[in-house]
Amino acid sequence: MIVLGFESSCDETGVALVDSSGAGVPRLLSHALHSQIAMHQAYGGVVPELASRDHIRRVLPLTEQVLADAGRTLKDVDVVAFTRGPGLAGALLVGAGVACSLAAALGKPVMGVHHLEGHLLSPFLSQDPPEFAFVALLVSGGHTQLMQVDRVGSYEVLGETIDDAAGEAFDKSAKLLGLPYPGGPALAKLAAQGNPLAFKLPRPLLHSGDLDFSFSGLKTAVLTQSKKLGAVISEKDKADLAASTQAAIVEVLLKKSLKALEQTGLKRLVVAGGVGANTLLREQLNAACSKRGIRVHYPELHLCTDNGAMIAMAAAMRLQAGVEMVNTAYSFDVMPR
Ligand code: KG4
Ligand code: ZN
Repeated sequence: MIVLGFESSCDETGVALVDSSGAGVPRLLSHALHSQIAMHQAYGGVVPELASRDHIRRVLPLTEQVLADAGRTLKDVDVVAFTRGPGLAGALLVGAGVACSLAAALGKPVMGVHHLEGHLLSPFLSQDPPEFAFVALLVSGGHTQLMQVDRVGSYEVLGETIDDAAGEAFDKSAKLLGLPYPGGPALAKLAAQGNPLAFKLPRPLLHSGDLDFSFSGLKTAVLTQSKKLGAVISEKDKADLAASTQAAIVEVLLKKSLKALEQTGLKRLVVAGGVGANTLLREQLNAACSKRGIRVHYPELHLCTDNGAMIAMAAAMRLQAGVEMVNTAYSFDVMPR
């Protein structure tokens, strides 16, 4: 079974082919990605209308590239999958429209995939995929969740953010420091030169006793600190504030992940979503988990942020597990929230 998958929920156009023939973990045949970062950079964030238009421009050339790279044609495709949500409505509609029209033209079934399930299952695209069951820390620009994953389709939310997501905390703090979009990687880069102990910032809900997160207070604290430093912040203070912010976010993510592992008794942790690319987070999780005999799995670095491979993979795994009925009605909707 060959799945062609489309991702267009935000500012990356991703297309991929995954092969789920056989009993093992489905195999990535090829994938292609176009990032719109350069286009949105001038505006300091994603402009939804520009995002939709760019997805339209990119999606078919990327599809041709993916098919050519895998030495396949559209005739080889058995199922077409797309990100149904959450995401920007107009952007999602591009992937959904293309996927459903292609499927209809080919007379093949189509399947809408939850974007977060794509992230959640993205470590299965790596050379050393995890085994079920595991705790998943899902940290993206829009979501921060801890989940217990028993098998494909069985996801229990153990805790989640009550306000901003971890990626949002990175992005908004970066913006306050005058760093370019996307803020997360820029803040992490600057933080590498700073002192994480220089500024005392809150660790919201660290001792709340549950597995929920809150990051909006941290953003306010960064704003307060940067105001105290005056209109022109020195490069050293900027790096110190970036390092202190990153340390606060990472400490909360680390402690809550360990608590979730302790609470569930599970010995495997999967980290997915864009913030999973953060080096400090990886270092601290690896160190703490190795002490406790816990394996940590990450998607490959280039598959941490949005991509089509994770959508094709999630669709293939759902089909393989028999938890998904494909749809041949070709009427489609998207679920931005
Ligand atoms: O998963 P993703 O690509 O898109 C969403 O589904 O949201 O995640 C994007 C988020 C952004 O907030 C970005 O700033 C953050 O992931 N991010 C990082 C790093 N790389 C991406 N945050 C911290 N450190 C990084 N290295
Ligand atoms: Zn994402």
